[in-house]
Amino acid sequence: MIKKFLPKTLFFRYFLIILTPIIIFQVLLSVVFFDSLWIKTNKGLVNSLTEELNTISSFYLNKKNEKDFNLIKKQVIENSSLSVFVKKNSDLPKNNNYVKFSFYDRLMNKQFKQNIKTPYWFNTRLDKDNVEVQLKIQKDVIVFIVPKSRIRNSSGRIFILWIMVPGIILLLISILFLRNQIRPITNLATSAEKFGKGQYVAPNKPYGAIEIRKATIEFEKMKARILRHVSQRTTMLSGISHDLKTPITRLKLQIEILNKDGKLDGIKEDINEMEKMISEYLDYSNSESNTENTKFNVSELVSEIIKKFNNKNIIFKTDENLYMMGKKHLIKRCFSNLIDNSTKYANNINITAYKSKKHLDIFFDDDGPGIPENEHERVMRPFYKLDKSRKLNDGSVGLGLSIVQDIINSHGGTVQLENKKKGLRVKLQFPI
Ligand SMILES: Nc1ncnc2c1ncn2[C@@H]1O[C@H](COP(=O)(O)OP(=O)(O)OP(=O)(O)O)[C@@H](O)[C@H]1O
Ligand SMILES: [Mg+2]
Repeated sequence: MIKKFLPKTLFFRYFLIILTPIIIFQVLLSVVFFDSLWIKTNKGLVNSLTEELNTISSFYLNKKNEKDFNLIKKQVIENSSLSVFVKKNSDLPKNNNYVKFSFYDRLMNKQFKQNIKTPYWFNTRLDKDNVEVQLKIQKDVIVFIVPKSRIRNSSGRIFILWIMVPGIILLLISILFLRNQIRPITNLATSAEKFGKGQYVAPNKPYGAIEIRKATIEFEKMKARILRHVSQRTTMLSGISHDLKTPITRLKLQIEILNKDGKLDGIKEDINEMEKMISEYLDYSNSESNTENTKFNVSELVSEIIKKFNNKNIIFKTDENLYMMGKKHLIKRCFSNLIDNSTKYANNINITAYKSKKHLDIFFDDDGPGIPENEHERVMRPFYKLDKSRKLNDGSVGLGLSIVQDIINSHGGTVQLENKKKGLRVKLQFPI
């Protein structure tokens, strides 16, 4: 369940790992600060104001004459930040405009209710800097203009700023570091993916953390080993095939001389077949080696091949212009081999190509005899032919499907054979 909401990429996962404790720490710190310090300080401020107001109002209540109070008023104005004046025979304003969700209005109301015994009225929105408080003393009203700093602790905003700004700076720094740490892993993953698809991969320079460096170095070693192995094998096979050409030519000449009465025709045929096998293999191994990957239009390529076959019974269906990365002439060879097989064994051929989310799918369907299920694996082997006994004298050597598989695998794709009600389906799938 949680997995669904967790970020998928390594960068965002690491980011979350860093972000979560910072946010939790900041929220905790803020809660502790606001609860134990800020709220209590504000409460204390309002309480001390109410004490002051109570003192002044009790002076007013107990005054002997007007002069007496005026003297006190003068002293208050001189010694404190409050302004005081009296409205004779007056009432408190009827409407109180407290805001329910305002923290200060609620706090003042609560503390006033607790500490002030006479009826009161206040307005925290008098102006930007002052609060107005009115107290009813007998028939009169005393009006106080109180600076907001007397009820409000301004350190709250500064605290928020102090907690947010370093947090944001820390996050930015960690993003920078994280990106640098993640980059070598991403590069390595991309290289491995490309290499798997048989594409050229430039050597990766190891950098980053020790573990990542080690992985990069080992990947490079493995890549070199695989490439060396493949090239050794190909060179060896090409060498053998090439060297066989001379004795085969010699054999052919000798048979030509000896075969006066046609008794050696069988051997001649076999030697011709051997020659074809060798030249086919050499042809393929030459074309495989010297190539770079390019992006090409698959739909155009298929249409081009079909034209060459000049067969009206080949139908090609594709939604759009499909593109893929790869060795174009090898893919061409692969498609040609499949179409060639189908034209040999079937009458009608349907080719379908389309792109799904992650793959490029190409189907080659025909209405021929198909290949028995238990032979699917074997027909992919080099020089394996199903109709050996029938001895189809069409110059085929049994390399076609194994070349197809080799090409598709080197592009990171897959080949699947499927039997339909009538005929064979070859399904090619390339990653994109
Ligand atoms: N479309 C098909 N329908 C029926 N059988 C097939 C089809 N494609 C291949 N086969 C069988 O699989 C065998 C192997 O095919 P593959 O293409 O490797 O060799 P080939 O066609 O005999 O020779 P090459 O392609 O080298 O000229 C063939 O001999 C044939 O019997
Ligand atoms: Mg073939």
